[in-house]
Amino acid sequence: MVKIVIQKKIKDFNKVISVDGDKSLSIRSLLIGSQSYGICTIKNLPKSEDILSTINGLKKLGIKIFFKKKICYLHGNGLNGFNYKKNIVIDAGNSGTFARLLLGLLVKSPYAVKIVGDKSLSRRDFQRVVDPLKKFGAKFFSKNKKNLPLKIIGSDYLKPINYFEKKGSAQCKSSVILAALNTPGKTTITAKKSRNHTELFLKYLNLPIKIIRKKNYDLIKVVGEKQFKSFKYVIPGDISSSAFFIILTLLSKKSKLKIENVNVNESRTGFIEIINKMGANVKLVNKKTLYGEPVADICVESQSFFKPINCPVKLNSNAIDEFLVIFLLASKASGISIFKKLEELNKKESPRLKLASKILKKMGVKVKLGIGSIKIYGNPNLNIKKKIIINKYRKDHRVFMTSVIAALTLGGEWIIEDKESHTSSFPSFLKILRKLGYEF
Ligand code: S3P
Repeated sequence: MVKIVIQKKIKDFNKVISVDGDKSLSIRSLLIGSQSYGICTIKNLPKSEDILSTINGLKKLGIKIFFKKKICYLHGNGLNGFNYKKNIVIDAGNSGTFARLLLGLLVKSPYAVKIVGDKSLSRRDFQRVVDPLKKFGAKFFSKNKKNLPLKIIGSDYLKPINYFEKKGSAQCKSSVILAALNTPGKTTITAKKSRNHTELFLKYLNLPIKIIRKKNYDLIKVVGEKQFKSFKYVIPGDISSSAFFIILTLLSKKSKLKIENVNVNESRTGFIEIINKMGANVKLVNKKTLYGEPVADICVESQSFFKPINCPVKLNSNAIDEFLVIFLLASKASGISIFKKLEELNKKESPRLKLASKILKKMGVKVKLGIGSIKIYGNPNLNIKKKIIINKYRKDHRVFMTSVIAALTLGGEWIIEDKESHTSSFPSFLKILRKLGYEF
């Protein structure tokens, strides 16, 4: 167990950086590529633990993947083209996205595949994908049908389904969309708004997918069993990783940052909408569309005044991975911020809403925690002087990185355990902080 000790704030900086490739798009490009015919090339895949789990899992399923000059070459064998031995075990590590989306691709698998995960992933809910995938005709075996480890055996007689996704979970929606690829006929999904990368990817590949946007829901229709050719793809920067550096800049003194080439899909930019409502002035410049996804540079400067927010619930799923750093900003706002209907936050790599409340209290911030809500009593003069120990957080990458940003901007002496946690999504995190001038 390696810990990190932070005793001083970061000094002012003025830099241009880029962050690691987007986790959601990386996993989707590999999984969708595995179903294409031919050799895909994927550039800018991050060397994060979640992506390594995805690559190793696909290799076990018979997909050839190798790297040459940092470019990933993936040999797709077509739809349901996995080729593997009986009784294989796939270790999804910490990655809920990989495990849940892969199950969708296994609805036609001829032999049982067992999926296992690390301690944190083994506590997370899988019933949310098992239930719809069973309706297609797949069978599942597990001691406890809610959690990993579980075994899936596919069916040769798959039926398309009508699925209502009510949680705003992109993983559930995407698992069903991927299952629909291998299923004859038309699958119809009515999904509460959530990140729409899977839909845009299939559209970009000209697959038969229709997306009808309603006010609160998207209606998605996918016609399955259409073979498709391999593709070239470049992964843009991850807005969720950028969020740590945006908050770092806002809360530091006299600093300026430009983050180049970041994915700014509307279903991911709820974070920017929320903090700009709090008075931040984060700008997106040089906008373009690359591989069917919007990409831009993000510009941000230090600021000293932030308004509290009554956070609109409709932005929750578009900012779901960024709430920990949003709470940090709220702790410096000039009044009480309220965040509601965030039950899903407690179902992530750690129970994030509960942990956020504990950490904020340790920082001396007044907090009222409800079942899915939190009230944060902001203090613009917050300046921590004491020692803060961050441990027992289930190695949640986002808890680790949020704690580092708090330590670098709000003062105090921080001891943060399990330094390696950040590598599940953002291996360059500490390297970029060094580039901004902080010496660890
Ligand atoms: C993801 C969806 C979100 C998010 C996760 C990545 C995805 O999870 O928290 O980090 O790539 O589809 P949910 O679908 O559980 O909301």
